Amino acid sequence: AVSKGSEPWILMVTARSPTNIAVIKYWGKRDETLILPINDSISVTLDPDHLCTTTTVAVSPAFDSDRMWLNGKEISLSGGRYQSCLREIRRRAGDVEDEKKGIRIRKVDWERLRVHIASYNNFPTAAGLASSAAGFACLAFALAKLMNIKEENGELSSIARQGSGSACRSLYGGFVKWVMGNDASGHDSIAVQLANESHWDDLVIIIAVVSSQQKETSSTAGMRESFDTSTLLHYRSKVVVPRRILQMEEAIRNRDFQSFARLTCADSNQFHAVCLDTSPPIFYMNDTSRRIINCVERWNQFEGTPQVAYTYDAGPNAVLIARNRTAASLLLKRLLFYFPPSPDTELTSYLLGDKSILEEAGLQSMKDVENLQAPPEIKGGISVDKNSGSVSYFICTRPGRGPTLVVDEDQALIDPRTGIPK
Ligand code: DP6
Repeated sequence: AVSKGSEPWILMVTARSPTNIAVIKYWGKRDETLILPINDSISVTLDPDHLCTTTTVAVSPAFDSDRMWLNGKEISLSGGRYQSCLREIRRRAGDVEDEKKGIRIRKVDWERLRVHIASYNNFPTAAGLASSAAGFACLAFALAKLMNIKEENGELSSIARQGSGSACRSLYGGFVKWVMGNDASGHDSIAVQLANESHWDDLVIIIAVVSSQQKETSSTAGMRESFDTSTLLHYRSKVVVPRRILQMEEAIRNRDFQSFARLTCADSNQFHAVCLDTSPPIFYMNDTSRRIINCVERWNQFEGTPQVAYTYDAGPNAVLIARNRTAASLLLKRLLFYFPPSPDTELTSYLLGDKSILEEAGLQSMKDVENLQAPPEIKGGISVDKNSGSVSYFICTRPGRGPTLVVDEDQALIDPRTGIPK
């Protein structure tokens, strides 16, 4: 049985997981319940120092139901996706022994023990930055540690996948491929790491969080509508993506930025073309998104070789991948020139994440931003329209590591005496 004399006890684990950005997109499911995709996809894991979910999972014989809090607010676990993850995790639970605390949990005990889960995103959920990917990856990872699950053959990624498809790719750092698999059971639809985060550490990622009032179509609903109505989606998944996956793997292996950028931009644009090909059409990008594309395309064209790649998920935010730090600071100058903050904004609250890029770009204050000159590629005729206020803020980050345990118990989100969030 569950032992520790008669005293109540709580056992906890805290973990941190990254988000990821797809460079070859997942869009379309062949199985909605198991979340099985119609094509492979490839992503870059983003540094969890800048964007991450932290999750504490706790177990105690005193808990009488599974409960979860997200960013401090209790949410329901009754949805099918949470239920699948909890069921799949419990099925694999092992024996756990904590000698120091005198706690012993046997494999069979997990079926009736209830868990409390507290999860927190270090970025605004409303910004639309793949919070479900980091969230379900973190949930699967933390519960697996708590229940002493020996992870084999990407099994954890296939559990996270059942929470949200893109979450399976957040179980690894660096460059990750989600292999679609063939089996109807989904056991071969898993994530694999292509290269770790130090393989290509020149890359710098700048995210433009674009202001938007529009209520977006969820990825889940959007991809269902595309699957049902877009002929381009089916051509893409059968013909275009298989080829691009091979080319992208090669570009990553060789750190070939030119191919990487070409494929990344083309795949983002094709994904948004699929959205337009959906009936009724779905618009995720807005005018600001398109202006950012123009800015990057014009500069890349001017340089002759790509300096920056862009990609957009199911929302208007731009994820810009610069070939190195020099390119990133030149990019930042352009972005701040075209999209200055609204008046009275501090520069340091307009650029979050790795702020050292500001100094490298020679930008110490708002005065420096106001004095920015038009970039050379627009000299000679093209009229400049500045769009103050259309970007909420930028985040500077880089490729990063996969999930990690947080050992410092002070950082746990659940109070070890009460079992509820601090
Ligand atoms: C555009 O993983 O959010 O970001 O599996 O239904 O939860 P569900 O969808 P989700 O879709 C992500 C779609 C995308 C592209 C990608 O991340 O590959």
